[in-house]
Parts: sequence; C-alpha cells; structure tokens
Amino acid sequence: MKIDFTNFFTTSGISPENFHRLAGHSAGFADKIPEFLAKIKKRNQGFYQIFEDADFQAEVEEIKKFAEKSREKFTDIVLCGTGGSALGTLAIQESLLPKIPSFNHVQDKQKIPRLHVLENIDAEVIAELTEFLDFSKTLFLIISKSGGTIETISQYKFFRRRLAGHSGILTEKNLELKNHFVFITGKTGFLREEAEREGIQTFSVPENIGGRFSVLTAVGLVPAALMGINIDELLAGGAEISTALRGTARDFQSTDFAKNLPFQLALAQFLALQNGQTQNVLMPYSAKMKNFGNWWAQLLAESTGKDGKGITPIPAQGVTDQHSQLQLFVDGPADKLVIFMEILPHPHPLLEGEGAIRRKSNADLKTFEKLMQAELRGTAQSLTEKNRPNLTIQVGEISPRNFGKLFMLFMGATAFLGEFMGINAFNQPGVERGKNLAKKFFLD
Ligand code: PA5
Repeated sequence: MKIDFTNFFTTSGISPENFHRLAGHSAGFADKIPEFLAKIKKRNQGFYQIFEDADFQAEVEEIKKFAEKSREKFTDIVLCGTGGSALGTLAIQESLLPKIPSFNHVQDKQKIPRLHVLENIDAEVIAELTEFLDFSKTLFLIISKSGGTIETISQYKFFRRRLAGHSGILTEKNLELKNHFVFITGKTGFLREEAEREGIQTFSVPENIGGRFSVLTAVGLVPAALMGINIDELLAGGAEISTALRGTARDFQSTDFAKNLPFQLALAQFLALQNGQTQNVLMPYSAKMKNFGNWWAQLLAESTGKDGKGITPIPAQGVTDQHSQLQLFVDGPADKLVIFMEILPHPHPLLEGEGAIRRKSNADLKTFEKLMQAELRGTAQSLTEKNRPNLTIQVGEISPRNFGKLFMLFMGATAFLGEFMGINAFNQPGVERGKNLAKKFFLD
C-alpha cells in the first residue's frame, strides 16, 4: 500500500522534499514523530497495540472455533449494534463478500450464514426481519461496548422476548437464550450483568479501545469470522501498519517519515485544513466500498469534531459520484481535500475475455478495470487543473489483508490528526450527551 501525493504537491505548492518539514510551524513535524507518538501513548489507547496482547490472541483463537461451530448451526446472524459496533462490519460485509444479493447462493454453498446488521431501530425493518427469520436457526450478536446503548438494548429485549417469551408475548418455541445470543461488550454494564445472569457467552471489547477504533477487536472479528472471512489476514494487515504507528521496527520504522503512512496521511489532512480545506472527501474507485466510507466518516467526524474544530467527512464513490457530487468538488468552494482510493484490478478472466469492451484487435482489449483506472486519472486531473488538493491511496486488491491495513491506516492517521489539531481524538462528549438525553426522554 502506498500514498501518491503528486497531485497534493502540485495543488498545494509544497515540494516533496519539503513535505515533512512544513506544517505551518517553523519546526518540521517529521522531526517530532516521537513526540506525537508519546502524546498518543499517554492517552492510553489500545487500538494499535492489541495485536501482541496474549489475552487477545487467545480470544482470536476462541473466535475462530466459535465461528466454525456456529456456521454449521445457524442460517442467519442478526447483529444488533450501532455506530462503532456496526459500521466496520457493514464495510467488511459489503467489500469482502459478493455484493449482489442473488449471489447469496455462493454463501449458501459454503454454508455461510446470512448476516443482517440492525444498526437502526426502525420498527418496520425489525418487523420485516422478524417475519423472515427462522429463530431456531438464528444467532443474535448483541454488540455494545458500554453495554447500555438504548437502541441496542431495546433490540436485545425485543428479540429476547420473541425467543424466550414473557407474559402475554408470543414465544418462538421457547428456545434457550444462551444458545441463540452472544454478547460482545465491555467489562461492566447491563449486557455484562445480563450475560452472567443468563449464562450467555461473551467476547470482550477492551476498555482502552473506543467504538470507532474497535473494528479489529471481537467487535469486527466475530461477525467477520462468522461470514467466513479470514480474520488472521485482517489482523496481519492491521499489525503491519500499526507497527509503524507504534514505533517498533518490523516492516516500518515509525520515526522514519518516509515509512509511516498514517503520519503522512494525517500531515496532508492537517496541512490542507490549515489551508482552508475543512472537508475531506473519501472516494474509493470501487462499487463495494460505500460502507467503508461510512465507517471512515464516523471515525473522522467523531474524532476531530471537538472544541469548535473538526474536519467534515464526505463519503463518495468512484465512478458513481463523478455524475453526482464531482461538479461541487471541482467547481464549488475550495474547501475540500479529495482522498482517492485506487483499487487494483481483480483477476477477473470474464472481464478480460468475454465481457471486455473490444477495440480493433485482441491486443487492444479494453477492460472495465482499465476504464476504472482511466476514470480515476481523469477525475484527479480535472481537480488538479482547478488547483483542488487531492491524493491517492493505492490500496491494491480488495482483500482481508488490505482491509486490515486500511482500517489501521485511517485509525492511525486520525490519532495523529488529533494531536496535530490539539484535541482528544478518542472521546465523544457530544455523542454521550445525546445518548443520555434520549434515554431520559424515553424513560420519563
Ligand atoms: O465510537 C463510539 O464510541 C460510538 O460511536 C459508539 O460506537 C456508539 O455510540 C455505540 O456505543 P456502544 O458500543 O457503547 O453501544
């Protein structure tokens, strides 16, 4: 994975040689990498350190065994959770499984249960799903770090009643709760107590990892493993980038600016912010990464929106948004940094052969992959010509390993960004206030 800053340099007037020296301050930021790392360390965050934790490694093995057993038993998985408890899984599901619902036969053949993510409390959707499910073959994953988010707990209580029955409520065969529910939660809270009361299996969300930074913990790994995704690969990708952030030499040296991708990305975002680009557009050239954009939007918005500061995320999608939002990006206010994501072609022989758009001869085959690349190039150039800052993350193919890298790249960059901006990227007082008020209004 690489980041191509060529267009960023052209549009910002910053030379590649000076990139790491400039941060609107007299002293270069790159010289301060150890200082920024120390600041992040002081915030006691585990998202980049978890890979070497022995308890976590043991849990990963348990997750794999659990998933293997469960795939045999269940046809459907219902994930109840919201925000950081659901968005990473939605991204993994969209990107790493076949996208078109009718392709589900692929999943059926491999005995992969269908995953339904309920990240909202819309009664109509819940009713539709309830109608569809065979409860005897359904597993409910209740995910909440705090163990008390009212939306998630309400969903749990609804399904629990349907399953086990409470006075006056229809029951579904009186199935045993502990055979159909698994909780992924923190050390304390309602879910933790409920698990103890009912003997329900749990996986843990580490205390020092917040919701939007938790995709590479049980929060994202349990659903991914249930979907048949190689979680070792996801973790290997995450670990590869996190070593850069953590400062131990493996593939990267964190204090070496040239090798520290999260730092580089954060620096570009910060320089752009100082230049008036208060909005970031994330534009993957893929039809399977819309949900990744939503995961990233939460990460950036909830982490940087503090003390009257912040960067507004705009998730977009190539090529679709060329015919929708691009006009605004090219010709509207010059307040956006566009982050493209180039996905390398999959080896799809069909597209190379039968499905390819042919020109004169076979030697001149034009494929959808080539068209996609040309579209990205064209869009990036049109922005650059208008002096609109943009850069391109060269992702490679969509794979579990690259997804692990991407998650860690953006989480790491966000951690640095918080320090550059002088804010705490890891809390969310605004969200907590809203959550508490909603609970109060509901219970009053
Ligand atoms: O990133 C965060 O902390 C939030 O978005 C949470 O993920 C979200 O509010 C859900 O919280 P919980 O996992 O405690 O139910």
